[in-house]
Amino acid sequence: MGRANRVVLAYSGGVDTSVCIPYLKQEWGIKEVITLAADLGQGDELGPIQEKALRCGAIESLVIDGKEEFARDYAFAAIRANALYENRYPLSTALARPLIAKLLVEAAEKYGADAVAHGCTAKGNDQVRFDVGIMALNPKLRVLAPAREWNMSREETIAYGERFGVESPVKKSSPYSIDRNLLGRSIEAGPLEDPMTEPSEEIYLMTRAIADTPDEPEYVDIGFEKGNPVSLNGKALDPVTLISQLNEMVGKHGIGRLDMIENRVVGIKSREIYEAPALLVLIDAHRDLESLTLAGDVTQYKRGLEDTYAQLIYRGLWYSPLKEALDAFIDKTQERVTGTVRMKLFKGNANVVGRQSENSIYEPDLATYGADDQFDHKAAEGFIYIWGLPTRVWSQKTRG
Ligand code: ARG
Repeated sequence: MGRANRVVLAYSGGVDTSVCIPYLKQEWGIKEVITLAADLGQGDELGPIQEKALRCGAIESLVIDGKEEFARDYAFAAIRANALYENRYPLSTALARPLIAKLLVEAAEKYGADAVAHGCTAKGNDQVRFDVGIMALNPKLRVLAPAREWNMSREETIAYGERFGVESPVKKSSPYSIDRNLLGRSIEAGPLEDPMTEPSEEIYLMTRAIADTPDEPEYVDIGFEKGNPVSLNGKALDPVTLISQLNEMVGKHGIGRLDMIENRVVGIKSREIYEAPALLVLIDAHRDLESLTLAGDVTQYKRGLEDTYAQLIYRGLWYSPLKEALDAFIDKTQERVTGTVRMKLFKGNANVVGRQSENSIYEPDLATYGADDQFDHKAAEGFIYIWGLPTRVWSQKTRG
């Protein structure tokens, strides 16, 4: 394969992606590197990052605000699907990757690049999500992953960068590897590599320690429309504001931490700490509203698909025919999922304490144990006779 002339590189401003700029040019003969930094709410100042890419030798340094799209088209889709990988991880990092892949492909097409690049290493999930996302969106583009091949230690990477004008990091580098965006933080490596070592309190930034949480519970009413969160305590909010405010509100009560051993796509087990306060609470609230508004068999069937949906996101198949087909099913179910869920936040727990909906199919006259009961009690006996018939016959034949 011939050399790429112009490359769009996913850029974070960190050492690895900065070193990718001279590396692509020096080692792989790329003529022009355009960097792209996506603002997905990671809280970095993007002005300095933009400057830094140019100092490292990029011919153009793009910064794109993707927060709104991230919340609306990625996070909310995952909430509608109640997507939790291995029943726990709400995919806060994983969801950002298909959007970054899409922004890279759009930039490559706009600037006439023949390849895109990223700084992922060979052991993680993110390389899979970028590579597969990019090939799904534009199979003609080549994907370059220098850090997957360069085999340099951290010190060697820094030293390599210094030779080509990449400043070495000012802060003493943390032992942790951290990914952050609007939805949460993922923390791994360093002392966390021992699965028996308790995470030190200082790694958490979005959630308080229980010892520091308020001594009074707080309630929040979360409003949903067609499965999408739209309001907090009756106030309509845009998706980004809603998630940010809810992060604050529930993180203050110590809600939203996870400590888990997960199975990566590449077969490695890894120990990961997550903070995803709003996302976890939104999924709980959403799932509850579904149980009020959806027919029982629809709910059960959908629960069976949710794990598949979470796996698709985790494994880099956001842009795939199965994901599209599942979306069609999920979107149909969500037409009814409008209403409000009341959560009580207290000492690390967010519990659903109430729910209501104009589409509720809860029928008080059937459910009540009081005088208004409309349920036909006599019908129960005949129903059980027929329901239990095969069991009775089986027992007669086999127990004698
Ligand atoms: N394990 C998580 C995932 O695959 C997060 C990985 C993010 N990176 C990190 N440095 N913790 O989605």
